[in-house]
Amino acid sequence: MRHLLTTETLDRAAIESLLDSADEFLDVLHRPIPKVPALRGKTVATLFFEPSTRTRMSFEKAAKALSADTMSFSPSTSSLKKGESLKDTVLTIHAMGVDCMVVRHEATGAAWRVAEWVDVPVINGGDGAHQHPTQALLDCLTIRQRFGGLDGLRIAIVGDVRHSRVARSDVFAMATLGAEITLIAPPTLLPLDTTGWPVGTSCNLDDVLTEFDVVYLLRVQAERGGASVFPSNAEYRERFGMTRERMSRLKPDTVVLHPGPMIRGIEIDAAVADDPRCLVLGQVTNGVAVRMSALYHLMGGVPVE
Ligand code: CP
Repeated sequence: MRHLLTTETLDRAAIESLLDSADEFLDVLHRPIPKVPALRGKTVATLFFEPSTRTRMSFEKAAKALSADTMSFSPSTSSLKKGESLKDTVLTIHAMGVDCMVVRHEATGAAWRVAEWVDVPVINGGDGAHQHPTQALLDCLTIRQRFGGLDGLRIAIVGDVRHSRVARSDVFAMATLGAEITLIAPPTLLPLDTTGWPVGTSCNLDDVLTEFDVVYLLRVQAERGGASVFPSNAEYRERFGMTRERMSRLKPDTVVLHPGPMIRGIEIDAAVADDPRCLVLGQVTNGVAVRMSALYHLMGGVPVE
């Protein structure tokens, strides 16, 4: 694996290898000194052209836990403001001497373009509504921890699937690991074309609510037009929100996941967000370990003791 850009091309062995390493890195993160020298002397640059809390900070934590140095690019205080292009920005940072670039950008395919310009591994930290592979890996790790594996699990992905890079990455990773996936959304928030997607679809959450082992909730992506295709937040919550009442109808061992940021009161009620069966903070912790695994695999880390 030279870059990590999409889950669509990852086979089962590749995903399992990344998750197995992440499990080992979780052990490292629980040590009194949560750090190993695997990437000592290397530098990881994070280039986030869109906002992020979880992905950027967990990549930085992951790099530091592997003893790598980090460089963080901030668009609002950069020479982008003077008109510098994406390509010149990337080549400039590359010329300073970096060993890996983590890129988030609003344009679909941006990370692929960066990978054409540089000779270091590139990790896609989210490109438009297209792909977010490390999110999918941390979601798979979280589900694997809870159920022992994904084979035969029934997973619902609920909400603004059309504008969600998380949904696209999750569908392919989870299906590769053997899960059965149903996309649940109003027709206007389902993808226009799911040809080739290993999924079923439904537009009525209440009809199918009790069938699932995992309910994965998505935020409505207002910044990509998601909020303009249904009448009101109240109506969305009424039909597709994980309310306390819907939570009470799930099977007793069903868990709720969310990639964050959560918008309490729309796709998830506060009582659900704070329920022990909502694994959102476990997902965040697993995100650090998954990103350590991705950096380690791509950057040729020395074996970890
Ligand atoms: N899930 C996720 O990508 O969160 P951030 O946008 O905060 O990185």
